[in-house]
Order: sequence, then C-alpha cells, then structure tokens
Amino acid sequence: MPSTAIVTGASRGLGLALARSLGQRGWRLVIDARDLPGVPDGLAGQVIALQGDVADPSHRRALVEAAEGRVDLLVNNASALGPTPLPRLADYPLDALESVYRVNAVAPLALVQLALPLMPAGARILNVTSDAAV
Ligand SMILES: NC(=O)c1ccc[n+]([C@@H]2O[C@H](COP(=O)([O-])OP(=O)(O)OC[C@H]3O[C@@H](n4cnc5c(N)ncnc54)[C@H](OP(=O)(O)O)[C@@H]3O)[C@@H](O)[C@H]2O)c1
Repeated sequence: MPSTAIVTGASRGLGLALARSLGQRGWRLVIDARDLPGVPDGLAGQVIALQGDVADPSHRRALVEAAEGRVDLLVNNASALGPTPLPRLADYPLDALESVYRVNAVAPLALVQLALPLMPAGARILNVTSDAAV
C-alpha cells in the first residue's frame, strides 16, 4: 500500500511543489486549497483534491477521512498572512487576528488531533511557519 500524505494549501507554491515531489515518489496524496476546482497540473499518481478552508472543521474531517485510515505524513502548509502591510499589534484588528489564528494555529492542531490516531510508527508531521511579524 502506498504511503499517504495530507498536504494543505497545495494548489500553488511550496505545497504544490511538495505534492508534486511526493507524487513522483509514488505517494498517495490528499490535498486542499480554498480555490481548487480539480487536481493541479503536474500532479502524478493517486490524488484526492478537496476544495475547502482549513479553518472549517467539516473540511478538516473530510481531509482526514479521504486518507482512508492511514496518514504517513501531514503537512500543515496552508496559512494566512493577515492584513498587509502587517499592522503593529497595537493597531491589529482583532477580528482579523482571530481569523489568522484560526487558520495558522487552531487548524493545524485540529488536523494533528484528527490524524494522529491514523499515523503509524514513523509517520511525520510537518508544520510550515512564517516569521513575518512586526
Ligand atoms: N513565500 C514565502 O516567502 C514564505 C516565507 C516564510 C514562510 N512561508 C510559509 O510557507 C507556506 C507556503 O507559502 P507559499 O508562499 O507557498 O504560499 P502560497 O503560494 O500563497 O500558497 C498558499 C496555498 O495555501 C492555500 N491556502 C491558503 N489559505 C488556505 C486556507 N485557509 N485553507 C486551505 N488552503 C489555503 C492557497 O490556496 P487558496 O488561496 O486557493 O486557498 C495555496 O494553495 C505558508 O505556510 C507560508 O506562511 C512562505
């Protein structure tokens, strides 16, 4: 049975590059993005592409269910930068801050909690972060 990876935010950028690389190595992939009408060009092998927002609990459940019982790698790559240019914390709109935390902190942890029971010994979790701050 091929190894299975969940890679969030894999319609472009780092997530897509990572998914392409894993696909070329025979991994089965579950990927997402908010705007993902189908499997992106250049993705080889078994790919399940789910359109949705990692901040949405039902979408997160769908991602893990699509892995069909086994997650060898979870990559929390999708993230939100928030308002740009980045405001000082003194001026940061709190509703925007809550939204950033839901995507960047709560969603990755929630996916970890859902995926852990399906992760065999040796499986890995990769959390991609940013040091963008003011
Ligand atoms: N690029 C940099 O210079 C840099 C530097 C430091 C760290 N990073 C980190 O590296 C990671 C990837 O960066 P990147 O530059 O490759 O990003 P990117 O090109 O902007 O791609 C982000 C991906 O995540 C998806 N996404 C965003 N919000 C989402 C959400 N709420 N739910 C599901 N999917 C979502 C996007 O698709 P949709 O918009 O369609 O949802 C897209 O597929 C991020 O975590 C970022 O913070 C990047």
